[in-house]
Amino acid sequence: MSTSTNATTPDDDRKTTMTAIVQRGYGLPQRVLTLDEIDRPAPGDDEVLVRMRATSVNTPDWLAVTGVPYILRLQFGLTRPATPVRGSDVAGVVAAVGANVTEFRPGDEVFGSLWSDNARSSGGTFAEYAVAPISQLARKPAALSFESAAVAGMSGLTALLAMREVGAAGPGRRVLINGASGGIGTLAVQIAKTLGAHVTGVCSTRNAEFVQALGADDIIDYTRDDFTRGTRRFDVILDNVLNHPPARTARALSPEGILIPNSVGPGRGLFGSLPRVARAMTMRWGSTDVRTVTCAVTRANLDALAALLTSGDLEVITEKTYPLAQAPEAVAHMLTHHARGNIVITM
Ligand SMILES: NC(=O)c1ccc[n+]([C@@H]2O[C@H](COP(=O)([O-])OP(=O)(O)OC[C@H]3O[C@@H](n4cnc5c(N)ncnc54)[C@H](OP(=O)(O)O)[C@@H]3O)[C@@H](O)[C@H]2O)c1
Repeated sequence: MSTSTNATTPDDDRKTTMTAIVQRGYGLPQRVLTLDEIDRPAPGDDEVLVRMRATSVNTPDWLAVTGVPYILRLQFGLTRPATPVRGSDVAGVVAAVGANVTEFRPGDEVFGSLWSDNARSSGGTFAEYAVAPISQLARKPAALSFESAAVAGMSGLTALLAMREVGAAGPGRRVLINGASGGIGTLAVQIAKTLGAHVTGVCSTRNAEFVQALGADDIIDYTRDDFTRGTRRFDVILDNVLNHPPARTARALSPEGILIPNSVGPGRGLFGSLPRVARAMTMRWGSTDVRTVTCAVTRANLDALAALLTSGDLEVITEKTYPLAQAPEAVAHMLTHHARGNIVITM
């Protein structure tokens, strides 16, 4: 494993330790997350070391912090997650590169994600530095802020792929987005509109005008109306909340409609909402077209998202930005399950 740095790299990049938010056990974020000085990771041959400028909080982070539903501890680690640093979205400046890396150099501004299907509990961006595989990074356009780029990896790619690939949103397609005011929902509403779809956003009264301003054609205020019991039918339902039994949600689909269950939900106990997720998945063997969306972190997907974000058609909505030292509060904010848009952490 070898690394290189160039003369313009700040002195800090040569230190062997870094400040990071470290998780000591499972529980409430303010109790189990602490600011600490730990060893800085070194990039492997096909990786780069990124001096982090911003990251964001996502569902996998609060799941790994709380360890609830408990069954997930079999995957994360019985007493605490195997990796002590949470966070997966990357936005920062390359500080050092691995031996095989030719397309990035120290000083390059990059964004992306550490998230991968075979390492769901991995992470490590709630820190001054993070190591990222080059295949999961792209160059950050100068016009894109680090704060916005920090949301692209997970919320951005999930929204983009749910609307563009899985749901094939486009002209003439009626798309319903449950949880339209959240991190993924705010981006999905805008992307579906950009693709030409007719968009219905489901949110609470407090967010109705806000979601309309994002471009939604119709709003269903869930405190007054239940879309699963209404007469309107949709070609695509992106369900970011899974607060209704999936079979009832499917009743709101048109005959050829696609259901995209996209939530582990805020469930508690041993299994939380996972049985509901499982029920949704088994419905694909019946007459319902159930499809999953995976946040596939590829350079092509990141570049496509960056193009949208710099075109003026897509704006990242951030409810609050926290400094790294307040990452526990940032995770607690996300745990309310009522964040408007995304929660960002800056370094
Ligand atoms: N497929 C993937 O790769 C992938 C990746 C990341 C996340 N996810 C999933 O995506 C889901 C959404 O993530 P997110 O980051 O968008 O979550 P989020 O930001 O925490 O969602 C918060 C939003 O949910 C809304 N909400 C809460 N209860 C609601 C209800 N009963 N009906 C409608 N809206 C409601 C809130 O609006 P109000 O305040 O108006 O209630 C709030 O704006 C997560 O559950 C996660 O499991 C999937």
